[in-house]
Amino acid sequence: MELAIKAREMAYVPYSNFKVGAALLAADGQVYLGCNIENAAFSPTNCAERTAIFKALSEGTRHFTALAVVADTEQPVPPCGVCRQVMAEFFDPEMPIYLGNLKGEMVQTSLQTLLPGSFTKRDLGMGERND
Ligand code: THU
Repeated sequence: MELAIKAREMAYVPYSNFKVGAALLAADGQVYLGCNIENAAFSPTNCAERTAIFKALSEGTRHFTALAVVADTEQPVPPCGVCRQVMAEFFDPEMPIYLGNLKGEMVQTSLQTLLPGSFTKRDLGMGERND
């Protein structure tokens, strides 16, 4: 969560002024940081969670053990639906996901709670692993 707070400072958010940070722990111990990156056309905006996940993937890492996300929110920040779907592609349903805010509140959850019944590669008749 401390690293997610650091990553949040890099957010590029001229439109919403809503900074989000993420820290993704890979199975090999490497941590990938992410922030949200907005765009004048709005829809190309990338959330902090997906920035961290895509950074890891683009460097050859596909196995993860924990994610922390933080924003300056009343309640610990909930990931958007698009990010949940991207997480469903790569995260174990029980992998710990820590959601926090700047007040120091934090909840532990997982994809099985955040996106139950998700559409995955299993529904395409494909295997479990992302090798
Ligand atoms: N955002 C994230 O980065 N992660 C979330 O989980 C929720 C939303 C970003 C997208 C946009 O830059 C800003 O927050 C407001 O929606």
